[in-house]
Amino acid sequence: MRDPEDFNLNLSGSNPIVANRAWQILSQKFSLSTKKCAVERKNFMPNEIEIEKVLIPQDRLQQRISELGSEISEAYQNKDLAVVAILKGSFIFAADLLRAIAIASTIDFMSISSYANQPQSGVVRITKDLEESITGRDVLLVEDIIDTGLTANYLLRVLRERNPASLQVCALLDKSARRIIDLPVAYRGFEIPDVFVVGYGMDYQQLYRNLPYIAVLA
Ligand code: IMP
Repeated sequence: MRDPEDFNLNLSGSNPIVANRAWQILSQKFSLSTKKCAVERKNFMPNEIEIEKVLIPQDRLQQRISELGSEISEAYQNKDLAVVAILKGSFIFAADLLRAIAIASTIDFMSISSYANQPQSGVVRITKDLEESITGRDVLLVEDIIDTGLTANYLLRVLRERNPASLQVCALLDKSARRIIDLPVAYRGFEIPDVFVVGYGMDYQQLYRNLPYIAVLA
């Protein structure tokens, strides 16, 4: 087995996506151990140089989430609030939102992945289902971003079949210019333009989720 150093590769100034892909190819081709790759990958994690601009800074995110929390707490008083967060993209938003909600509530997670052969259908594979029943409960579906609306529309259909008492959507970001299906979004963090964003849980090829703000890639 050869070491990456043997190739005299210096990817540190490269675009992280390119660098990451290069390491994927190298690791497969030369059977580098997973541990070794993890160590090497870490060196090429994105930094602020690859970010074209910060679209929503951390303080604005927190301010808006606190407002959403207050609105939801008010609306769900005397109700049986069950927050359903969709993984992976919404995990950071859901964690902050839950802490901004001042009434009794539960949280459960659903993990989905899209079918490669029908990306435009909105039909997703549920790779992890809810652990608790939502029948008779007031369900709030928490999404990171609503783009075409197909995914959320499909999830609403799935959840509605389980007979919740009520079912609403809370999305941190809304790219409504790209919507192709009408979707009621009861709670919306920010309306954003038609740009691809990362950070605060959202990824590009599994990277950038750890940024504490929402950014547009260079
Ligand atoms: P939709 O079905 O077109 O509404 O897409 C929803 C899903 O696509 C979101 O839950 C995200 O996982 C992903 N997505 C859409 N736009 C973006 C983006 O700008 N950045 C990261 N993920 C996105």
